[in-house]
Amino acid sequence: MSNKMWRVVDLLDWTVGYFQQHDIPNPRLDAEVLLGHLLEKSRLQLYLHFEMPVFQEHLTLFRELIKKRIARTPVSYLTNQKEFMSLDFYVDERVLIPRPETEQLVETILTTKTENPQRLLELGTGSGAIAASLALQQPEWEIVATDISEPALAVARKNAETHACTAQIEFLSGDLFEPIDAVNTNGNPRFDWIVCNPPYIKNTERDTLSPDVRDYEPEIALFAGADGLAVIRRLIAEAPKYLAPNGKLILEIGEMQADSVRALIDAESAYCTYKVLKDYAEKERIVLASVP
Ligand SMILES: C[S@@+](CC[C@H](N)C(=O)[O-])C[C@H]1O[C@@H](n2cnc3c(N)ncnc32)[C@H](O)[C@@H]1O
Repeated sequence: MSNKMWRVVDLLDWTVGYFQQHDIPNPRLDAEVLLGHLLEKSRLQLYLHFEMPVFQEHLTLFRELIKKRIARTPVSYLTNQKEFMSLDFYVDERVLIPRPETEQLVETILTTKTENPQRLLELGTGSGAIAASLALQQPEWEIVATDISEPALAVARKNAETHACTAQIEFLSGDLFEPIDAVNTNGNPRFDWIVCNPPYIKNTERDTLSPDVRDYEPEIALFAGADGLAVIRRLIAEAPKYLAPNGKLILEIGEMQADSVRALIDAESAYCTYKVLKDYAEKERIVLASVP
């Protein structure tokens, strides 16, 4: 990038070409999001300011962002922002970037008919996107959110503060249900909902992942043993002990895992019903199981 006077339009065109040369998957979108982030403008505002000059101070910072994107740092880690359920969440390399398909977990919970305020447990909260968006939609619900990663929990707490729902969410640290056992000594009630988007990628699939995911997102958020079911298997076996009467377990699963997950639930007599739901791409990605 030369030291000439750059306008927004030239800078975007140049960056798109540069990203294309480096096989960056969505070159125009990424260029617009990164420049918009730097200039504090929406993508629409960028279009309305196409002729605006971009000065040296911003050019220097933009060069740094481009370099990092070429090294495949995900855009959301460069902007520290990801939208989920129409809310903005802070993200960095301590947490998985929330995916649009995970919104269906939240929507399924919200559209399932419930009567009283619910007690909900989210295991593996990461950025806290699921817990916080449920808290905002259901201010009467009591929510506990856990993660095995303390650094992830720090991000989740920060997001809960931003969205003013810290009083509604109790954050606990530890391996799956272990922190619940630790606080349950005085007979706390069980949960009406247990929700989890667990790690479910096979260790052997590492090389098939895009470098954005493989080299930047936390390993603990992605991988789950040789068959990808290490965490799901434990969740299905252990959840009934923590579910209230008519309680529900809802999980996101990998697109090839539905049959294995059906077999795991069939083998657990504690569940009375379950269904596997398809996502908008017609892939079986959500399991909803109930206890009597
Ligand atoms: C796929 S990420 C989901 C993050 C977030 N809930 C979302 O949907 O964007 C899985 C999360 O589970 C956490 N995790 C992995 N193994 C865990 C375990 N055994 N106990 C609790 N949390 C775990 C990871 O640290 C990570 O934050």
